[in-house]
Amino acid sequence: MSFLKSLLHGRPNGLRARLFGMGDPSATSTSAPRPPEPAFETGEKSLGLRKEAPKNVTPPDGFEVVLHKDALPDGQIIEVIMGGTSVAVARVDGVHYAISNTCAHAGGPLGDGKLSGSTVTCPYHGWKYDVTTGACLTDPSVSVRSYPIQIIGDAVCVAL
Ligand code: FES
Repeated sequence: MSFLKSLLHGRPNGLRARLFGMGDPSATSTSAPRPPEPAFETGEKSLGLRKEAPKNVTPPDGFEVVLHKDALPDGQIIEVIMGGTSVAVARVDGVHYAISNTCAHAGGPLGDGKLSGSTVTCPYHGWKYDVTTGACLTDPSVSVRSYPIQIIGDAVCVAL
């Protein structure tokens, strides 16, 4: 039940909750494990997603439209869901990058992390990743998946 609710409503501080105001902190299950306190103050992450993903774009084969190219401000990262896969999309100096949203350490949501230059810091325990490659800067023996990304017209398109 908790999984189904998460699937439909997302995490209380996730993209869907922020976009649609569906977050309900009082609805957390007492049996579900609680995420650790953030490694830093996340605060109210205002992303200014005022532009909807274009619907009149045909993405290349294997790609899916995830955002309007101007929706995500520079220096921000956000979680998008593609066919049930959680992806973190970041914008660094006008260039978009997509990596797995799931931290290799303990599954923290990288799309809720803090982006500085091309480095995202996981909100759970502070592991750092290069969003341009998915390489983990904290433990070089691991990485998260990096996804191909293309800008077609006004659309940011990602391939899983
Ligand atoms: S889950 Fe521990 S650093 Fe990401």
